[in-house]
Amino acid sequence: MKKMNIEKMSDFFDKRAPGYDKHRELHITTYPELYITMAEKIPFSNKKMHVLDLGCGTGLELKWLFEKLPNSTFTCMDISANMLEVLTQNYSEKNKKITLVQSSYLDAEFGKDTYDYVVTVMSFHHLMYDKKLALYKKIRQALKPDGMFIEADYIVAGKDVEIDCLEYFTRVKHETGIENSYDYHIDIPLCKETQLDLYYAAGFREVTEFYNKDDAVGYLCSNT
Ligand SMILES: C[S@@+](CC[C@H](N)C(=O)[O-])C[C@H]1O[C@@H](n2cnc3c(N)ncnc32)[C@H](O)[C@@H]1O
Repeated sequence: MKKMNIEKMSDFFDKRAPGYDKHRELHITTYPELYITMAEKIPFSNKKMHVLDLGCGTGLELKWLFEKLPNSTFTCMDISANMLEVLTQNYSEKNKKITLVQSSYLDAEFGKDTYDYVVTVMSFHHLMYDKKLALYKKIRQALKPDGMFIEADYIVAGKDVEIDCLEYFTRVKHETGIENSYDYHIDIPLCKETQLDLYYAAGFREVTEFYNKDDAVGYLCSNT
């Protein structure tokens, strides 16, 4: 049997961090449009707001978020030390406004009623239903009552494709013998229907789609 080559999540992104920004620019069709569209949904504010960015990587989304929220503070969480290192270089002039946290968002505490915005771009498509649901609940608790969760991520066309991805995920887990698959880089994007079910199951009251192109979608989720 051919041995599957699965990389640990942090190793995967640590290796790719130096060329990550260039790769997005050259090969990702939704860049920068998706990021710009996402930022357009955020009303400009001079207030000091608190933003949590989960799976921030090199901070691509921050460029546009800073334009809308110039006096806000950003807590940027990522599992890859090298991605955070590139973020530090990219935003050296804004470092007083950025707190870096090198951690898995699955393990970290986010607090309660703390953030005006929780943002995540292209990061949660490695999570199975149960882990994603628990994470959405944690995000909801971390938001202020009028706060907003913004997620953009990869999506698959329908339930049948989603099931194929999940079967692949189960097979990889079985064949490689990895104990905690969440630490590994395996893509398991969900379909729109499942995504929406999870947001509502987590308790978000209002969910609005703000982007849908190629294999990417964006959602705004609020508690009110
Ligand atoms: C495709 S990159 C997206 C980075 C950035 N948000 C962007 O849009 O360019 C996914 C990021 O999520 C991070 N990531 C994946 N799983 C994670 C986890 N469990 N906890 C924290 N970060 C994670 C990776 O290290 C990587 O930097």
